[in-house]
Amino acid sequence: MKSTGLLAFLASGSPAIAGIVGASPQQLDKRALASSDPFYPSPWMDPAADGWAEAYVKAKAFVSQLTLLEKVNLTTGVGWEAEQCVGQSGSIPRLGLRSLCMHDSPVGVRGSDYNSVFPSGQTTAATFDRNLLKKRGYAMGEEAKGKGITVLLGPVAGPIGRAPEGGRNWEGFSPDPVLTGVGIAETITGIQDAGTIACAKHFIGNEQEHFRQAGEAKGYGFKIAESLSSNIDDKTMHELYLWPFADAVRAGVGSVMCSYNQVNNSYACQNSKLINDLLKNELGFQGFVMSDWQAQHTGAASAAAGLDMTMPGDTEFNTGLSFWGTNLTLGVLNGTVPEWRIDDMALRIMAAYFKVGKTVDQPPINFDFWSLDTYGPVHWVAKKGYQQINFHVDVRADHGTLIRELAAKGTVLLKNTGSLPLNKPKFLAVIGADAGPNLRGPNSCSDRGCDNGTLAMGWGSGTANFPYLVTPDSALQAQALADGSRYESVLTNYAATQIKALVSQANVTAIVFVNADSGEGYINVDGNEGDRKNLTLWANGDDLVKNVSSWCSNTIVVIHSTGPVLVTDWYNSTNVTAILWAGIPGQESGNSITDVLYGKVNPFGRSPFTWGATRESYGTDVLYTPNNGAGAPQQDFSEGVFIDYRYFDKANTPLIYEFGYGLSYTTFSYSNLKVQKANSGPYTPTTGKTARAPTFGNFSTNLTDYVFPSDEFPYIYEYIYPYLNVSDAKKASADPQYGQTAAQFLPPNATDGSPQPLLRSAGKSSPGGNSKLYDVLYTITADIKNTGSLAGDEVPQLYLSLGGADDPKVVLRDFDRIRIQPGKTAQFRATLTRRDLSNWDTTVQDWVVSNATKTVYVGRSSRKLELKATLS
Ligand SMILES: *[C@@H]1O[C@H](CO)[C@@H](O)[C@H](O)[C@H]1NC(C)=O
Ligand SMILES: *[C@@H]1O[C@H](CO)[C@@H](O)[C@H](O)[C@H]1NC(C)=O
Ligand SMILES: *[C@@H]1O[C@H](CO)[C@@H](O)[C@H](O)[C@H]1NC(C)=O
Ligand SMILES: *[C@@H]1O[C@H](CO)[C@@H](O)[C@H](O)[C@H]1NC(C)=O
Ligand SMILES: *[C@@H]1O[C@H](CO)[C@@H](O)[C@H](O)[C@H]1NC(C)=O
Ligand SMILES: *[C@@H]1O[C@H](CO)[C@@H](O)[C@H](O)[C@H]1NC(C)=O
Ligand SMILES: *[C@@H]1O[C@H](CO)[C@@H](O)[C@H](O)[C@H]1NC(C)=O
Ligand SMILES: *[C@@H]1O[C@H](CO)[C@@H](O)[C@H](O)[C@H]1NC(C)=O
Ligand SMILES: *[C@@H]1O[C@H](CO)[C@@H](O)[C@H](O)[C@H]1NC(C)=O
Ligand SMILES: *[C@@H]1O[C@H](CO)[C@@H](O)[C@H](O)[C@H]1NC(C)=O
Repeated sequence: MKSTGLLAFLASGSPAIAGIVGASPQQLDKRALASSDPFYPSPWMDPAADGWAEAYVKAKAFVSQLTLLEKVNLTTGVGWEAEQCVGQSGSIPRLGLRSLCMHDSPVGVRGSDYNSVFPSGQTTAATFDRNLLKKRGYAMGEEAKGKGITVLLGPVAGPIGRAPEGGRNWEGFSPDPVLTGVGIAETITGIQDAGTIACAKHFIGNEQEHFRQAGEAKGYGFKIAESLSSNIDDKTMHELYLWPFADAVRAGVGSVMCSYNQVNNSYACQNSKLINDLLKNELGFQGFVMSDWQAQHTGAASAAAGLDMTMPGDTEFNTGLSFWGTNLTLGVLNGTVPEWRIDDMALRIMAAYFKVGKTVDQPPINFDFWSLDTYGPVHWVAKKGYQQINFHVDVRADHGTLIRELAAKGTVLLKNTGSLPLNKPKFLAVIGADAGPNLRGPNSCSDRGCDNGTLAMGWGSGTANFPYLVTPDSALQAQALADGSRYESVLTNYAATQIKALVSQANVTAIVFVNADSGEGYINVDGNEGDRKNLTLWANGDDLVKNVSSWCSNTIVVIHSTGPVLVTDWYNSTNVTAILWAGIPGQESGNSITDVLYGKVNPFGRSPFTWGATRESYGTDVLYTPNNGAGAPQQDFSEGVFIDYRYFDKANTPLIYEFGYGLSYTTFSYSNLKVQKANSGPYTPTTGKTARAPTFGNFSTNLTDYVFPSDEFPYIYEYIYPYLNVSDAKKASADPQYGQTAAQFLPPNATDGSPQPLLRSAGKSSPGGNSKLYDVLYTITADIKNTGSLAGDEVPQLYLSLGGADDPKVVLRDFDRIRIQPGKTAQFRATLTRRDLSNWDTTVQDWVVSNATKTVYVGRSSRKLELKATLS
């Protein structure tokens, strides 16, 4: 690990030197490595920012009272396993502020009890329903708050899903930036309305697990010294990867987590271009940036690049040392880190805190991540402070009902030749391990790092303990019994003889459950090091489907998966009468799928990704082998914006089910497309300058005032503090390079607190970017008629052709979910904003509407574009 201030700074700026870190000169000759431009100083908060002004006032009043040590405490985690949450900051006992709790996950409270497990972001995205996305966020925010969590570590827009194999794609929403943007914004609004700070993560280019951290990769036997670099050009960054983060910032997200990987050969948590320029300057982000766990690699350099909080605080887990803590105190005292920068860090943290309605006197944390025991050491790694650590607070309320609804409505009906919905079938045979329980219990594998029994969650830190898990087998059996059906299940994929005997009988309706799992890189399940190693079904799933459908003419297939799987070999069989994708459904899995299979919920879910015919048909994949010697593996995002459906449309590679596709038990027709131009006035680039960077309060420069107050409380083993252990700066820093003067290695302008020019694309106090970008330029309406005999919901989608030679054939721009009674017609109404109609112009450095002819389409999916009109 790179750990000195010197290398630290260099890696965050200059391309030539970024290359030297980890790669031999010979390797450098062969390829010019992508590089990241420096951008300094780090933007400070804007007192007038929309949605933040009140929080700013409160934060300013609070931070103005703080000492330097107290400010540093807010910015620095107390170390891995030092307190109850997965990450905690220091506290400010003098003012009654307890330690802030940063805790997983995007599907529920991780490692706790009496919490709910929600469907994954990806599954919820398949509802294409803004209201449901928000309700899920609100319920998760309530549960987090009920446990004492300050910041819930989600939702996810990175990975967005560049490669379908990406291990953590299920934690996010969709490879489409508009759907992900809606998903992340609604979830954030929900979480924060409930009084919990949301954390938009992982910023940015965190598209695969392999090589995201050099240390983890070494554990798998890869000899690399630096983390993967995601090499992303400016246009692709804006039009694809940054897009949903703009929506997150516009939604007022309180925190953003920078990622493990490098972007253009500069670590994301010290990349001044990413944090200072894109996030804080262009998007006008007012909250705080925290590091992913161990993603910080430098002290002063990361502060200058815009990092505001280090998590979990130690340089590496359990070193007891920190790039910040003592070092940040020293860095401010010796003038390396300007006072305005530490003040801005503290201000951002407290503004996010007050913005979601928190008061200084928060109730205590009532659970412990490291143990479910009622009593134990509150300082886990130090084994100190024995007390009640778990109060087993039940925060689930009636969320089970919502979870059941979400997973049912996020289920996508991919094929139905008439076997569904089921209506008192004579004989139901349920086949497959994915229908049954994990015999060792739903929570038996740590962080769900196995694929046994029905798949209702992926693996890694994006998980939570199930309070119960309704299996498809138990729910379907209950339904069958209520109906007077005969019911049998075989809950293994490896009993061909018995399965054949069962499904070959007369009158059988066979439902085969299959799955494909993935997760976070620190766990290897069956040779899948986070990322999937293939796109096929797991555990003999394809043979299972092929076998059952060769014996049974009414075979229904249900897929639980973290992304697309290859169904090419069997989807077309006439004996496969229905196929459903049930995603990652959470605790109510069996009830949700039963509701859909029996028509209690008329499906309307739409696939949030494309189902390619082959792995190669996607055009993108995970990089599984280092390609830069011992240096940072280089993942060039050379496909640009062409991922998922945009690639299939461009390259015309074979697909089975397109993005946005999904069936209903009823049918709909589309007509009467109307386009209305709105009167929104011209675009006005932002001009002017910020105010000077403010500072709040004074601090002593006498080092004696910063020495650990051992008379007040004992030092806890491996705990990270803001104090110096001795009043000698060099000794206290424990850094042999301590004392090299700031001028030698801090970037030009990094300490400059004078007024800074506003970017033309940035807002004037409008988080999310220039507010004119969000002006509605067109309103589009269409009539949707329910032409079937059942009430149902339709998800009309608005696509746009931007018309340029380098543009995708179509891009999703808006959608809605509308309930329509049989025979009735409803109006779909959608809008196109200036951003929707623009491309990122790399020369102007702004969004520009090109002269190319623009066409709008309204239809059922990215390929069923029933209606079309040219924009004037
Ligand atoms: C910093 O935080 C630690 C841990 O919560 C606490 O013990 C200490 O008193 C705090 N220091 C100051 C100066 O507030
Ligand atoms: C200060 O940071 C340096 C790396 O820049 C690290 O080696 C040292 O251990 C840190 N000191 C403390 C006291 O955490
Ligand atoms: C559990 O799943 C793993 C793969 O995750 C597999 O290797 C193992 O055989 C399974 N065990 C049982 C009992 O199904
Ligand atoms: C059950 O199967 C038998 C034999 O194929 C057939 O005659 C009968 O109609 C079936 N009954 C139902 C309800 O499907
Ligand atoms: C794909 O990976 C899964 C999970 O490791 C495995 O069960 C399956 O056999 C693999 N498929 C092929 C075709 O090798
Ligand atoms: C469909 O199922 C029947 C048994 O009901 C079987 O005879 C036939 O071969 C199957 N067809 C296919 C294409 O698998
Ligand atoms: C699927 O079936 C249709 C009609 O039977 C056929 O035209 C098509 O080629 C098949 N597709 C594949 C991939 O087998
Ligand atoms: C720093 O503070 C200590 C303790 O209060 C005091 O003894 C010492 O004289 C001070 N040093 C300076 C340079 O003021
Ligand atoms: C200031 O403190 C930081 C953090 O310990 C250290 O890296 C740097 O070398 C120090 N600089 C000076 C000029 O003393
Ligand atoms: C430093 O700031 C000045 C004035 O804002 C600017 O002209 C110059 O380009 C900046 N230098 C760097 C290296 O960013």
